[in-house]
Amino acid sequence: MDVRPFQETDRAALRELFGRAGADSPTESLWGHLDSEAAVYLDPYMDLEPESLFVAEDDGQLIGYLAGCVNTRAFPSESERMEQAFRRYRSIFLSRSALFFARATFDTMAAKIRRTPAAEDFTDQRWPAHLHINIAPAGRGTGAADAMMDLWFTRLRAIDSPGCHLQTLVENTRAVKFFERMGFRAHGPEPLVPGVRYQGQKVRQRTMVREF
Ligand SMILES: CC(C)(COP(=O)(O)OP(=O)(O)OC[C@H]1O[C@@H](n2cnc3c(N)ncnc32)[C@H](O)[C@@H]1OP(=O)(O)O)[C@@H](O)C(=O)NCCC(=O)NCCS
Repeated sequence: MDVRPFQETDRAALRELFGRAGADSPTESLWGHLDSEAAVYLDPYMDLEPESLFVAEDDGQLIGYLAGCVNTRAFPSESERMEQAFRRYRSIFLSRSALFFARATFDTMAAKIRRTPAAEDFTDQRWPAHLHINIAPAGRGTGAADAMMDLWFTRLRAIDSPGCHLQTLVENTRAVKFFERMGFRAHGPEPLVPGVRYQGQKVRQRTMVREF
């Protein structure tokens, strides 16, 4: 197993890995349309900040990746990226992913009526960096995730970053334990994530932060 910075020649393999790296986890699939999910959660990291992207490979096959961003405020927000993906893939969204968006609209309206907060973009200059990490099932528990985090933390220390945040789900217990072991702690409210279900239940967003 080897971990290293992303190279442009990894692009196709990384897109393929993106489709299977979340398997059996609460974030396995969001709205069920891979190209638009990648347009939000992977492509901008390859296009805009490849120097903060790391991969793990085993026997020549990619098994995991960590997509980082050193300054969240200077990066298109998750809402902006979702809006762009929505415009680009509008027709597919309307058919294949209609159930997800109907549920998301319903959840958002219900939260407003009950005056409970819904998940939103997070920016805070105490923890300006953020990351996403995904390891395919065969690579979990092997140390690949730890090794990629080491590369990411080394990069953040090299640029004197004060801190990093991430957003996961309360229900993603394996990920939460892993991030705690990596020095992150829970921060702020844990709002409902509109539209997303895990084992038939609504899920809550957990923001986690770590200083350097
Ligand atoms: C989250 C992830 C990067 C962690 O990497 P990992 O190699 O699995 O990490 P670990 O092996 O250290 O497992 C983390 C913890 O969960 C525990 N664990 C192992 N199997 C588990 C399981 N099936 N369910 C719950 N916890 C489990 C481990 O014992 C470990 O706990 P410890 O720190 O107390 O020993 C990886 O599991 C992953 O990519 N999962 C799928 C995608 C995902 O959830 N990404 C994060 C989205 S925010």
